[in-house]
This record gives sequence, C-alpha cells and structure tokens, in this order.
Amino acid sequence: MKIIKVKDTQMGGKEAFNIVKSDIENGAKVLGLATGSSPITLYNEMTSSDLDFSNMTSVNLDEYVGLKPTNEQSYHYFMNDHLFNKKPFKNSYVPDGSNPDAEAATSAYDKIIEDNPIDLQILGIGRNGHIGFNEPGSPFDGKTRKVGLTESTIEANTRFFEDEKDVPRFAYSMGVGSIMKAKKIILLAYGENKADAIAATVDGPVTEDCPASALQNHPDVTLIIDDAAASKL
Ligand code: GLP
Repeated sequence: MKIIKVKDTQMGGKEAFNIVKSDIENGAKVLGLATGSSPITLYNEMTSSDLDFSNMTSVNLDEYVGLKPTNEQSYHYFMNDHLFNKKPFKNSYVPDGSNPDAEAATSAYDKIIEDNPIDLQILGIGRNGHIGFNEPGSPFDGKTRKVGLTESTIEANTRFFEDEKDVPRFAYSMGVGSIMKAKKIILLAYGENKADAIAATVDGPVTEDCPASALQNHPDVTLIIDDAAASKL
C-alpha cells in the first residue's frame, strides 16, 4: 500500500484529484465513487476543474434501503448535490434504495458493475474498518447485497439525520469482492476517530473482522490520510 500523508482535507482532496486526473488522462472511463464527508474535498476539486466527465461512467458503492433519490439523506441525493449536478457523467449508477426487492436490486447492480469494470475506486472508511457498507464479518468475496448496519455505524451516521431513529438500518452495498476488482483504489481518511481503523487496515492481520484489511491483497492501493488518522501507524 502506498501512503500519502497530508496536512488537512483540502490537501487530501488535491492529492486524490491529481490521481483521478492522471488516470483519466491515461484512459480511465469508469470511476467508483463513495459518499461520506471524506471524499467531499475531492469532489470540490473535480467540480471546480476543467475536467469533462460527460464521456465517463460512475458507479457508487452503496445506498440506504428505503430512501428515494429525492430524499435529502439518500446517497443518491448526496452525489447529485456534491458532484453530478455540477459535473454530469454519461451514466451515473447508485444502488436503487427505493426497491424493496433486495434480490432484484442487488443482482441488477452486480450486472452494472460487470458491464462497467471500475478503473479507479474512491473509498472512505468507517471507524470499525468498514468500506462501502461492508461491516466487520463481511465476506471478502462478497458481491452486492443487502446489509444490516452496526450500532457504531448508525451512531456515526446520526449526525446527518434529525433523529437517530431516522437512520436507516439497512443498505444495499457493493461487496468487498467487487471493490477488490477495481484496477486502482484510493482510500481517504481524516481525523483521530479513523486511527484505529487505519492501523488495522495497514498493519493488522488480513481478516474479515476489518473489511478494509482486504486491501492489503490489492496490487494498487493509495491511502491519503492526515496525521491524526495516521497516528497509530
Ligand atoms: C458511511 C459510508 C462509507 C463511508 C463512511 C465514512 O458509512 N457508507 O462509504 O466511508 O460512512 O464516512 P466519513 O467519510 O463521513 O467518515
């Protein structure tokens, strides 16, 4: 794993943007995208750049079950707001959280991933080492599936909702196996509350107890992290 240490999220966004830009210049056509606060500075760099994404495809990691794209808390809404409304892609895919039929929603998404192999995947990380919504215990060969969120993830995500009880308990998430198929991966992490997860990702055993530790087996991963997130390395 390559580690780029940055002084703050602004610098992290710039470092990540430089990789995205050079990948696109080298022919990348499909970006795997993530939600959460960590990729926001990257999306700001992308929207203020002169890069054109109108020939590209994006495939997002996950979506809450039960939320429509028009719901302000949905990941679909987040992506429209932070990126797609300003820089449209040719096609942008997010799992269909409004489809209550998990089998149909997840198999349709696997087909999308298969048809659009990801050149560059952007990831954040949960405090418990989750990637996408693959919580500890998720299979390393997993495909898209309906997952239950852990208490720590619900608590971490409560900040985006008016009330803890409004946080959805389930999500559709790309699996660890699908994430590992991306040609290149950038993981962004900032702040002290990510330090344990980063230490387990980089130095810990490769175990499903820390989903991000699977990345040790990937040939092209770059971690962009600040000093606080790197403090336990
Ligand atoms: C959610 C998302 C993850 C994201 C994580 C961390 O759980 N499903 O994809 O990495 O939050 O979010 P943040 O970057 O806000 O810390």
